[in-house]
Amino acid sequence: MTGLRFALLPSDALGAVLELQREACGPLMHPLTEAELSEMLAGPQSGRGVVLGALTDGTLAAFLAVQFPVQAAHNLGRDYGLPDVDLDRALHFTGILVHPDRRGQGLHRRLIETAAQGVLPADRHRYWFATVRPENTASVRGMLSVGMRVFARKPKHDGHDRLLFVRDLSAQPGG
Ligand SMILES: CC(C)(COP(=O)(O)OP(=O)(O)OC[C@H]1O[C@@H](n2cnc3c(N)ncnc32)[C@H](O)[C@@H]1OP(=O)(O)O)[C@@H](O)C(=O)NCCC(=O)NCCS
Repeated sequence: MTGLRFALLPSDALGAVLELQREACGPLMHPLTEAELSEMLAGPQSGRGVVLGALTDGTLAAFLAVQFPVQAAHNLGRDYGLPDVDLDRALHFTGILVHPDRRGQGLHRRLIETAAQGVLPADRHRYWFATVRPENTASVRGMLSVGMRVFARKPKHDGHDRLLFVRDLSAQPGG
């Protein structure tokens, strides 16, 4: 895929992220609120998350929103059974969205891999979590392709059943 650049998005990208979400979210992703996005766009220093963008000619083609839920009640580590002391080492892939013109080109996987290589410090984050509607085949396959696995299925966000995914970075690949 040519002409694509990955970059951490700054706070002033909020409008572009919301616009892409409005245009292309579809019915299977629980849309992120402006407040949630603002917190993540504030960057890793704020301790709340990061948003990684994929851009072509300065236009946002896709993004991955990563939230650091720390001790919040909605930390998926609680569903996974993590002790409180480990909750700070969990992160959520809380939104991933690819413009319809760019779908089917492996961007779901590339966004997560790029984040893992350059953005997410392994010493601070040990557990990846995500929730995905079971009927969202592309996202289910995308999560599996980066080594995540389903550990539960239960209603989340808007009450729809969701698959709960985890990857423990300390585990052996395939283990
Ligand atoms: C879900 C979404 C992010 C996938 O992005 P993408 O870049 O098109 O996905 P990829 O090209 O990386 O494909 C991921 C996997 O799904 C498969 N796939 C892609 N589109 C598919 C489709 N329409 N039906 C079935 N499988 C599909 C791919 O073959 C790939 O599988 P593989 O890893 O086994 O080869 C994109 O469809 C989207 O933005 N949807 C709207 C928002 C959303 O639902 N986000 C996810 C919930 S947070």
